[in-house]
Amino acid sequence: MGPHQHRTALGTLNPAERPPLLPALAAQCFGLLTVGLPVLLFFPALLEHALLLAMLQGGIAALAARWMQAPPWWPAIHLGFMPLLVLVRLLELPGWIWPSGLALLLLVFWRTDRSRVPLYLSSRGAADAVLRLLPPGPCRVIDLGCGDGALLRHLAAARPESHFVGIEHAPLPWLWARMAGGSLSNLTLHRGDFWAHSLADYDVVYAFLSPAPMPRLWAKACAEMPPDAMLVSNSFAVPGQMESQRIAVNDRAMTYFYVYRPGSAAV
Ligand SMILES: C[S@@+](CC[C@H](N)C(=O)[O-])C[C@H]1O[C@@H](n2cnc3c(N)ncnc32)[C@H](O)[C@@H]1O
Repeated sequence: MGPHQHRTALGTLNPAERPPLLPALAAQCFGLLTVGLPVLLFFPALLEHALLLAMLQGGIAALAARWMQAPPWWPAIHLGFMPLLVLVRLLELPGWIWPSGLALLLLVFWRTDRSRVPLYLSSRGAADAVLRLLPPGPCRVIDLGCGDGALLRHLAAARPESHFVGIEHAPLPWLWARMAGGSLSNLTLHRGDFWAHSLADYDVVYAFLSPAPMPRLWAKACAEMPPDAMLVSNSFAVPGQMESQRIAVNDRAMTYFYVYRPGSAAV
């Protein structure tokens, strides 16, 4: 077992690979109990100082998250969560705001807690760099988790002889992509889970995901992609695999593409 790995009910996982929701909930509950119980039982007058108590709760939850070796952004989230909740309550917003906000977040981000891939978009510079990587003749290209579809629209407009496919599971980005790309006959957008979609028919597979799914994506690509097909990963390298090309994209985010030929790696 490596120095940053832990044995859990789910097996041996790096902290960044563990599902985050349950540990986060546990840290919040621990903070609530350690602060809330003594206050309710012995010092109820302190309830007047809700913001102070919330900050204390946040600090304890953050410490608990550190103790559970949660990824480094979680203690910061715990520190701010309850104080922000208290502050927003002071605004006395109408009750429907809360479920509506939750619904909106769900529609945009869907099950990011499971996929470990949030929504952020490729830059125009990245789209131009993908364009330069495409084979000269007609080809088939897929964007795994196509977000708002902007990258695919750019490619489809520039290469009318080729076919472009996007798969997105989050409802609102998918709807946006469908509406904005409706006029392009060489662009197909599916709503669904890209893990259930075969990569066998594509010359280029583009992925802008996160570190978490890269080992699984590599296994899928090796099993399904044809020998000459190209896997282009924006920003995230496949651990333990040497890319056939690393390309610096000229954009503000200083993006790198990691280019692989998983089909040839498998033979
Ligand atoms: C970082 S964004 C990239 C968006 C787009 N490809 C781009 O480059 O602009 C990743 C997208 O993948 C989507 N996603 C993550 N896991 C997915 C899955 N299993 N099936 C379909 N979409 C997924 C997310 O909802 C998100 O919109």
